Amino acid sequence: MAAEKAVLAYSGGLDTSVCIKWLIKEKNLDVIAVIGDVGQTRKSLDFVRQKALDSGAIESIVIDMREEFVSEYLSKALFANALYENKYPLVSALSRPVIVKHLVAVTEQFGAKYIAHGCTGKGNDQVRFEVGVRALNPDIKIIAPVREWDLVTRDLEIAWAEEHGIPVPVSKSSPYSIDDNLWGRAIECGVIEDPWVEPPADIYEMTSDPATAPDEPLYITIGFESGLPVSIDGKAVGLHEAILQLNEQVGATGFGRIDMIENRLIGVKSHEIYEAPGALALIAAHKALEELTLERDVLRYKHQIEQDWATYVYQAMWFSPLKEAFDAFIATTQAAVTGEVRLKLYKGSCVVVGRRSELALYDFTLATYGEEDSFNRDAAAGFIELYGLPTAVWARQQRRLKAK
Ligand code: ARG
Repeated sequence: MAAEKAVLAYSGGLDTSVCIKWLIKEKNLDVIAVIGDVGQTRKSLDFVRQKALDSGAIESIVIDMREEFVSEYLSKALFANALYENKYPLVSALSRPVIVKHLVAVTEQFGAKYIAHGCTGKGNDQVRFEVGVRALNPDIKIIAPVREWDLVTRDLEIAWAEEHGIPVPVSKSSPYSIDDNLWGRAIECGVIEDPWVEPPADIYEMTSDPATAPDEPLYITIGFESGLPVSIDGKAVGLHEAILQLNEQVGATGFGRIDMIENRLIGVKSHEIYEAPGALALIAAHKALEELTLERDVLRYKHQIEQDWATYVYQAMWFSPLKEAFDAFIATTQAAVTGEVRLKLYKGSCVVVGRRSELALYDFTLATYGEEDSFNRDAAAGFIELYGLPTAVWARQQRRLKAK
């Protein structure tokens, strides 16, 4: 009887390469490797594709997910100004669902029974892969080799790999666990497991050290239409180009580093370092434009939804009815988010120094204390009289009770 098939989310690293051999040996499966291009920096994808075949996969498929990642995932994260625990722009949490979508499609196309991933049993990503698969096709079975196998240390894993003819990188691989894509870069493990230790300078790749960044501030003007960036310094760009350009330009000024103790879904606190210069600059500009153009109560309500959106997406619920409902609300707010924002970037800081919009609800004649003031001050006294009425009634009652 022909072996059953497993579709594996493959990165080209040691873990997922060992996964291929392990699925063949331990589970007697044929392995189809799927490599998702979400804009990560990596060896050539041809190289990664070939490595999967060399490790024993019967098929190895590279899928360019970048456009879809940008238009369906990153755009929504920007609309939601998504920052988990007010800091983390969800770099990895956003890429997992787009990868899952393609894993499920390939699984159905090849009539495979299983989807496998190389996540450990301690992180969020295992939950994102598995809940994502269940949301899209609950009949597909999941295998998580790294959670099951007993190659608990890196050395054991390398020994097993060598024994089974899997190419192991010559250089002692990085002590860090790194995940990156267009939206940023996540760095965990190694010395940063001690939250008292200052992260070593060499962990950063997308951002310059603020101390050695240029001494002149960089001004960037980002134009938005309906919530999406459409120009940078007057030159037309799409969201994808804007992210690439801002990652370079903003990263060079030293802005975009995040150092946080993060609450993982599985209950553990972990020390995480991120770099997301483009994402953070775009969110800062987008938020500033919303302050200018969104009606007061819409803005207040959106802030609450933004928090929930980020938490929910972090917690593996991208494909869910509540997330869709959040997106529907947020989408209705974005028509007003058109205009320009000027950012000043200087040695690790990013400050909004200008904003303007045809749709601004900021009315100069209402706001000014100068001659052009059109605000009706006389109406203020009556307003305060009624607005403060319940407080005054309550205070009188209190005084009466105390006097007894
Ligand atoms: N803690 C982050 C998250 O859960 C980053 C995970 C990155 N994954 C990795 N393999 N390093 O979204």
